[in-house]
Amino acid sequence: MRAYRIAAIPGDGIGQEVIPAGLDVLDAVARRDGGFRLAVEALPWGSDHYRAHGCFMPEDGLAKLRPFDAIFFGAVGDPGIPDHVSLWGLRLPICQGLDQYANVRPTRLLPGITPPLRHLAPGDLDWVIVRENSEGEYAGHGGRVHRGLPEEVATETAVFTRAGVERIMRFAFALARGRARRHLTVVTKSNAQRHGMVLWDEIAASVARDHPEVAWDRELVDAMTTRMVLRPRSIDTVVATNLHADILSDLAAALAGSLGIAATANLNPERRFPSMFEPIHGSAFDIAGKGIANPIATFWTAVLMLEHLGEAAAARQLMAAIERVTADPAFHTPDLGGKATTAQVTAAVVDAIRSGNV
Ligand code: NAI
Ligand code: MG
Repeated sequence: MRAYRIAAIPGDGIGQEVIPAGLDVLDAVARRDGGFRLAVEALPWGSDHYRAHGCFMPEDGLAKLRPFDAIFFGAVGDPGIPDHVSLWGLRLPICQGLDQYANVRPTRLLPGITPPLRHLAPGDLDWVIVRENSEGEYAGHGGRVHRGLPEEVATETAVFTRAGVERIMRFAFALARGRARRHLTVVTKSNAQRHGMVLWDEIAASVARDHPEVAWDRELVDAMTTRMVLRPRSIDTVVATNLHADILSDLAAALAGSLGIAATANLNPERRFPSMFEPIHGSAFDIAGKGIANPIATFWTAVLMLEHLGEAAAARQLMAAIERVTADPAFHTPDLGGKATTAQVTAAVVDAIRSGNV
């Protein structure tokens, strides 16, 4: 039997609710499939670990993660700890340390979910956003001097390397080529940012020449927001910088119905390191502990993880179970306008898998 080692890091807030739910549905899928099993190790890293030990993960945390086949991550963020401390304490060191440079974010309308753009039919919004995940605006390059004084200066330098931009462009063109419409939109801001973003555009154009079968266009990031709302059918695959794609993918999630259904994969495409799979949302202080977090984002994330592990049949089956459950408004959590709890949605997806009726 095929076996995979999974590191589960629920982290903070609703991460503690949705990751156990995700492990329940993964367990059901593995049992039903019968061809593989998941050996899950839960790692208690996050803000409580920080309060107890002064760090979000142990010093050898990255070395601990390396032998795993994949990482299943919830969220990090705590009302009592500044967000930049928590994010740079756990999630970003993992993404950067394990060179998970391609962040893939699928968005599409799931059955039964009414999007805010009410005229949309299923299929009208079916996007994959590829986010550069290792450098750009989130490279962490910069500093502060003269702290607290009137002449204080802070810099936050966006870093664009030829190697970093080229590999994400190659990844995005290849991904676009594998989708039905074979279309890629390169998001940029090269009108105002005349160094890094111009390099970004030049490399996009040169990689495009190697992919004549992919139709592509370029869009300034501000115009891209209006295009997503007004002409969603004109978009298929998208590649954007770390900051731009961070923002655009939250918009994409909201346009598809809720942040509570949006999934993502932080990939090391060469598989030199384990990749990390997480819902896009954060720890959601406002609903944490209430049992009403939408687990669908985490379930879709589990689908991406199964695909990455090579378990395509199990991935398809889980996605079908998810779609069967979202189609019934009785299983919508409050973020989708319903009254269902995390536990009820989880049980419904587990049932759909077990009944095999998907
Ligand atoms: P958030 O994603 O936690 O929440 C934004 C809004 O969406 C909230 O109203 C929340 O209730 C709702 N929401 C999110 N996920 C939901 C779900 N599964 N079901 C139902 N409703 C859901 O973003 P926010 O509030 O900006 O950040 C909270 C904390 O999370 C901060 O500390 C932030 O730094 C952290 N964060 C961590 C991320 C990560 O670890 N990958 C990603 C984003 C934020
Ligand atoms: Mg974000």
